[in-house]
Amino acid sequence: MLNYKIVDPHNTYIEEGVVLGEGVIIFPNVSIVGRTVIGDNTIIDSNSMIKNSIIGEDNYISNSIIEDNNIIGDNNRIGPYAHIREDNVIGSDNHFGNSVEIKKSQIGDSNYFKHFSYIGDAIIGNNVNVGAGVVFANYNSKKNTKETSKVEDGASIGANSVIVAPVVIEKDSVVGAGTVVDKKVSSDSLILARRDNIYKEKYYSKNKKLPKFLKGDILLKKQRGEELSYEELDYVFNGYMNKEVADYQMSSLLMAICINGMSDEEVINLTDIFIKSGEVLNFDDVEGIKVDKHATGGIGDKATLIVTPIVASLGIPVIKISGRGLGYTGGTVDKLNSIPGMNLKLSKDEIRKQVEKVGLVICSQSDSLVPMDKVIYALRDVSGTANSIPLIAVSIMSKKIAMGADKILIDIEVGEGALIKTLDDAKELARLMVKIGGKYGKEVKTIISDMNTPRGYCIGNNLEVIEAMNVLQNKEHNKLSDLCVEIASHIVVMAKNISYSVARNEVLQVIRSGKAYNKFLEFVEAQGGDLSKLKIDSKRIDVKSDKDGIITNISALEIGKLSVMLGAGRLTKEDSIDYSAGIKLNKLTGEYIKANEILCSIYTKKDVDLEILRKIFTIE
Ligand code: URA
Repeated sequence: MLNYKIVDPHNTYIEEGVVLGEGVIIFPNVSIVGRTVIGDNTIIDSNSMIKNSIIGEDNYISNSIIEDNNIIGDNNRIGPYAHIREDNVIGSDNHFGNSVEIKKSQIGDSNYFKHFSYIGDAIIGNNVNVGAGVVFANYNSKKNTKETSKVEDGASIGANSVIVAPVVIEKDSVVGAGTVVDKKVSSDSLILARRDNIYKEKYYSKNKKLPKFLKGDILLKKQRGEELSYEELDYVFNGYMNKEVADYQMSSLLMAICINGMSDEEVINLTDIFIKSGEVLNFDDVEGIKVDKHATGGIGDKATLIVTPIVASLGIPVIKISGRGLGYTGGTVDKLNSIPGMNLKLSKDEIRKQVEKVGLVICSQSDSLVPMDKVIYALRDVSGTANSIPLIAVSIMSKKIAMGADKILIDIEVGEGALIKTLDDAKELARLMVKIGGKYGKEVKTIISDMNTPRGYCIGNNLEVIEAMNVLQNKEHNKLSDLCVEIASHIVVMAKNISYSVARNEVLQVIRSGKAYNKFLEFVEAQGGDLSKLKIDSKRIDVKSDKDGIITNISALEIGKLSVMLGAGRLTKEDSIDYSAGIKLNKLTGEYIKANEILCSIYTKKDVDLEILRKIFTIE
């Protein structure tokens, strides 16, 4: 009597006539019917069904169905969930993985069939690898026939390929994943019909069509002073980026915003849309509270050049993105670029390295950080919409948040020489910026400063760098140095969580000790600048007072205009700058001047009508 084992005879069905070999083990829920022979030592695991088939020795069959008329050799591993349909001849040592289906095929020895593949009407040699999801497409719909494909020894078919019968895949050839094979693959060759991926960034946002938001409707809505939803703002602003919305349409929306303003929710939503137009830097892994300082723009404002090295020399990392000057106001990028060799176009990696090494980095706006601001700012500048308070808040805060600092101090300059003309506007801007910062978990502090008279003695790029260096060397004590100490102290309070008076002492200490100045030198050198090459090569014209009296006003706006005439600033984006052009004041507001004493020195390479000087100084 043969020695086989049926683990649970009550839950196993073996039809009369089935032959079970020596050492066969049959687990519960198995059904074996018809003229079936199971060879020695084969294990049939639960839930399998076998019908009219001859199975060799030492096979392991799990949770699988083997239908009519199959002849299967020895030592195969079948399943789980394999479906061996009718009329297959299968050799030995094969592996049929999860959910493999086989029909009317001849299969040699030592082949692998990975999960979810279908092998129909195939002749497979030995040592063939059939990857997951491979389909033998054997049906010829034109002839309504089934065709045969052949795979020779050692061939390998990558996942998800389709073998369109009738084809031959010759010995030792390789079919790359995802290939549709519809002709012979010669021996020892590779067929790879895969295309490079087409990868389009922001594909959805660029292509989405929101037909219900007709552009005209959105413009009219804002013209009526109504609130725009996130989707409507997103649609128009991203539409402008994709050139679906024209300049004239965007300009009229900006003008409607200028006139009717925006709700806080609109401002917050638009900031988010701006930020998402580019990448957001993250310096969480850089030790310390990272700070940023920003000013809304003024005449002769070199405070960034002074404040940032002071703060960095106290061990507080400063990460700052700066802009070029436009109109009459100067920009930190131009001032720093006036130092020969200085590089402000830094990559993400360069920014990170510099913060880690020097603790102070200042870079210009790149195309990857808030590109929407660059585009909208340029349009605002030429469409009379630069002074909208909500748009200024969005523009500044989107850049500050994208740059990744933890705490931000914003100097809001107010007066005739600034973008913001009234104290009420300055206060409203401060409120909005603090609110936006809060949404992103950033502490924002604002100070409001005067911009009716220029900041310091110098206006013009090289001149301002030199003046900043003098303040950092503790050589000058005036309103400019006082303001810089105040701004730096506020930043130190935020970063170190200490009192204002302690912070102020620390600030004064690093100025006196030269640490702040040395940090400036280290920062300039690290960004490629060579201060030894900085020279004022414009001609100098001394302008003298024609009377005795007190200087009661120096008009920031008129000085701004003069500086542009001298070549120190630009009126259009394309204008070039003479870095050594500018104005050096000899006296400040409130000081007494004698007739014939030098009022200011003008540096320029141009012939300029100095009549404008009459409007600049009021002497009484
Ligand atoms: N500075 C900016 O960055 N944006 C503005 O809109 C105004 C000043």
